[in-house]
Amino acid sequence: MGLDSRFEKNIICIGAGYVGGPTMAMIAMKCPQYKVTVVDINASRIEAWNSENLPIYEPGLYEVVKEARDRNLFFSTDVSGAIRDADIIFVSVNTPTKTFGEGAGKAADLQYWEKTAREIIRSSESDKIIVEKSTLPVRTARAMERILNANDKGIHFEVISNPEFLAEGTAIADLQNPDRVLIGSQLTEAGLKACEEIVSIYANWVPRERILTTNVWSAELSKLVANAFLAQRISSINSISALCERTEANISEVSRAIGKDSRIGPKFLNASVGFGGSCFKKDILNLVYICESYGLYDVARYWESVVLMNEYQKRRFGQTMLRVMFNTIAGKRIALFGFAFKKDTGDTRESPAIDLALQLIEERADVVITDPQALDNAKRDLCQHASKIEFTEDPYVAARGAHALAIVTEWDLYRTLDYRRIFEEMEKPAFIFDGRNILNHQELYNIGFNVFPLGTTSYKHF
Ligand code: NAD
Ligand code: UGA
Repeated sequence: MGLDSRFEKNIICIGAGYVGGPTMAMIAMKCPQYKVTVVDINASRIEAWNSENLPIYEPGLYEVVKEARDRNLFFSTDVSGAIRDADIIFVSVNTPTKTFGEGAGKAADLQYWEKTAREIIRSSESDKIIVEKSTLPVRTARAMERILNANDKGIHFEVISNPEFLAEGTAIADLQNPDRVLIGSQLTEAGLKACEEIVSIYANWVPRERILTTNVWSAELSKLVANAFLAQRISSINSISALCERTEANISEVSRAIGKDSRIGPKFLNASVGFGGSCFKKDILNLVYICESYGLYDVARYWESVVLMNEYQKRRFGQTMLRVMFNTIAGKRIALFGFAFKKDTGDTRESPAIDLALQLIEERADVVITDPQALDNAKRDLCQHASKIEFTEDPYVAARGAHALAIVTEWDLYRTLDYRRIFEEMEKPAFIFDGRNILNHQELYNIGFNVFPLGTTSYKHF
């Protein structure tokens, strides 16, 4: 790779994951005047980005990649070469919850981020803008600037925070038409200049009024707070789903009624078997840890309760299954419809399906899992129990001979299956537990199922 005079800017991204790949593909597609290179230490991931079979399933992603790849979008394992030639470096490495030492179970594990910083120092020969794309604890930019600018080469690094708000499954639409792009910088002359450079990238397709600039700490913190607020809405509605089941209120009606209040709004009020995904839990726990480290224990407990309520909801779903199936599911075939943490992705990180499967296995049920995109990840997540679980892409095969099926992921295809055929091939009494409230419960009851939706009265034949 060398400097190429055909391009106005040389942008790279370190980390070719769920964020780095799609965000850079969108920048490359929208800005053919920039050279965009995505690098990763994971060679098989890079190979997949360069192939027809991208490493992640995301609707519309392949079309975007195809348009820009080998024109001005490149995927490579040459991390140091890419750093050397870059003007702007986005860093989108993983920042999982720390599993060891101080802050284990809550704090963000910054080892991948720090390794990247050291690689940047090692390979750089000129000044650069470093953009935090990963989600990081507030005030990380300060630590980063210290590490980077402690170099003895006389190179200046300006650190910008540009957190990503895309959701998996809708990443392309979210990137194409974001509610906002957030860019935080130091308020110094150099900081503001670097901020303007990053603004000018997004301004190629995002209206200016949706590009927010703030101080760097506000940008870092806003990312954690956005995820905490979104997850808090889900925990709030899930908590009320438990109350609805005791009072003959209906959670879908309650959601609709409160969502019509323009101050509340209708989104993120779907009761579910629990929120999953790689970020909500991790980012809230990180927020909790940060509050604790500033001695703000009441604030920490408040946000921690959002995660605790989610654990309750996940556990409650499995407990309901056990209770209504006569308190024993040992030896009973139970089909999980969906394993991804939401529809339109193959991602299973923190999927509620993992906990549910483990809960059912603990009760010695015969678990069968079906999912259109997530079976490889499901097999990996449950590898220690592989001999006890059946995996199949075909939901009809999964349901055949089952005592119960549970909708765990809201894939559209589950709405339109032939449930009469499924009922006929199941053991009786046949149970459906709708952890996403996507099915027509009255119709299923009429077919003969005992139906247990979330947050409303059940439909029972006994
Ligand atoms: P990911 O695990 O899919 O991807 C991270 C990539 O970074 C991996 O491919 C890994 O090999 C690579 N990597 C790690 N260390 C490296 C190094 N030293 N050099 C080169 N590559 C390295 O993670 P992700 O889901 O893309 O998330 C990345 C960040 O974005 C996280 O901080 C996350 O919180 C945040 N985020 C994620 C989402 C999402 O929807 N997944 C949305 C918004 C923000
Ligand atoms: C979430 C945020 O929505 C993104 O803005 C953010 O960038 C991202 O986290 C991140 O930082 O990683 P994501 O986790 O991909 O995106 O997906 P969501 O659509 O937020 O769904 C998260 C979980 O909540 C899923 O398990 C989903 O099924 C569940 N959910 C969502 C509900 O149970 N009810 C709802 O009403 C909405």
